[in-house]
Parts: sequence; structure tokens; C-alpha cells
Amino acid sequence: MPGSSIPIHKFTSSSEVVFFTGAGISSESGISTFRDPEGYWAKHDPMQLASRQGFKADPQLVLSWYGDRRESIRGSFPNAGHLAITNFQKLFPHSVVITQNVDGLHFEAGNERVIELHGNIHRHKCLECGTSIKLDEAQARTLNFCTCGGSVRPDVIWFGERLSMEILNQAHAAIESCDLFFSIGTSTQIYPAAQLPFDAQRHGAYVIEINPDLTPLSSQVDLSIRELAGTALPKLYEEFYAGLS
Ligand code: APR
Repeated sequence: MPGSSIPIHKFTSSSEVVFFTGAGISSESGISTFRDPEGYWAKHDPMQLASRQGFKADPQLVLSWYGDRRESIRGSFPNAGHLAITNFQKLFPHSVVITQNVDGLHFEAGNERVIELHGNIHRHKCLECGTSIKLDEAQARTLNFCTCGGSVRPDVIWFGERLSMEILNQAHAAIESCDLFFSIGTSTQIYPAAQLPFDAQRHGAYVIEINPDLTPLSSQVDLSIRELAGTALPKLYEEFYAGLS
């Protein structure tokens, strides 16, 4: 990662910065990604575990899988990548985190202004009326029903479902005003989230991708850093800190 290739002089503490993240930023915390060779979708059928049809066909299978994922998340901690974002946010007080992750690790790391595009695995809601429903872990592993009669499900976005317009509008507002956009640890394959880096670039942002692997975004970005997030982000932070002071 050659420091001189980042035009640090262009960015000041009033710059609007967006950190857009995917499963890759949590992989160094021990949480599985989805599309890597060892990822969830290499071992499981996403339509069985992460769709309304799959849930209706076998709710217990789906609830157990989400329970296992929560257990793995509860045993994990934010890593150097998440913590570097916390430090960056002190340099850039208007910065926003837009994440596709449902694990809540950005909050645990102390990140602020976090927009969760795909929901949060620790929350639940009614499949039919959408009412938010609080469950403890033991309850969450079994099938519960809302007062309307609908089944209770994890409050995450499944395949074939629309993102909340309100959340998407918040993300677009951040994209439209940002000068610097980081795309970190995402395969850039799932829309509409995958469109955000391209939109940021169209609005004039300098776009940096951090990912050890190539993605559909890699050839379009201003800078592609082919490293792990937990390595690249702390180094970049040091570089910015030195450049801004
Ligand atoms: N640092 C940076 N990038 C990493 C790291 C790491 N330590 N480890 C893995 N990666 C990269 C992989 O190379 C891959 O490109 O992270 C990316 C993870 O991609 P996916 O598994 O496809 O995850 P994501 O892009 O977040 O998926 C989007 O798909 O299944 C749905 O709803 C789910 O939110 C998810 C969405």
C-alpha cells in the first residue's frame, strides 16, 4: 500500500467520509463471510436459510441457524479494522458507516452514525405485520407468534426482500455528500447495496476499496488496496493522522 498514492492533502477534518462495509470486515473477528470458499453459501443453500419461502418451509431450521450465528457473534470481538474506523471517526466527525453486516460489531467497536442496511441479527420482528418483538435467546431459537398471528423471525433482510426505504434514503444522503468513500470487505455483488460505491464515485467521491480479492468494483476505484481490513485500515489511519496534523 504505497502511502503516496492517497491524496491526503485533499481531505480535511470537515471532509464527509463514508465507510461502507461487508462481511469481510468481521472475518478477522472469526465471523464467517458468505461467498468465500469457506463462507456460509459454500456450505448452505441461501434460499433455504435466508428467504421467506425457506422460513415458511422449515422455520425451526432457520431459527436454529440464526441462533448458531448469534452464538458465534457473542463469542467474538471487534477487530483492528472496526477499531481503526472508531479512530478515523474522531478525525472525521461527520463520517458515516454504512454496513451490510447484521452482527452489530460496528456498535461494539464504538463506531457512530452506523446505518445497518440489512438489519440486525439480535433483533426480531413479525413476518406478517413487521412489529418489532423482543425475545431472549432461548425464545429466539423456537417459533414464536405475534399478537396478529404471524411468525416471529430475525429482523434481517432476506433474499427477495426490499430494504427499508428510510434506511436506504439515509445511505443515499451520506453518499451524495461524501468526498471520500471506503468500500471494505464486500464482494460487491448484492444489490442495491453494491450500487453504493458506484453512486459515490458518480457524485465525485474518491473511492478506495480494501479487499484481498478482486471484485466487480476493483477496476473502477481510485485506489484498490489488496490487503485484509485489519491490516490496511490501521495503516491508513496512521497515514491520515500524520497527514492531517
Ligand atoms: N478484509 C477485507 N476483505 C475481506 C476479508 C478481510 N479480512 N476477508 C474476506 N474479505 C472479502 C472477501 O474477499 C469478499 O470479497 O470480503 C468479501 C466478503 O464478501 P461476501 O461474503 O459476499 O459478503 P458481503 O459482500 O458482505 O455480502 C453481501 O450478501 O448474503 C448476503 O445479506 C448477506 O449482507 C450480505 C450480502
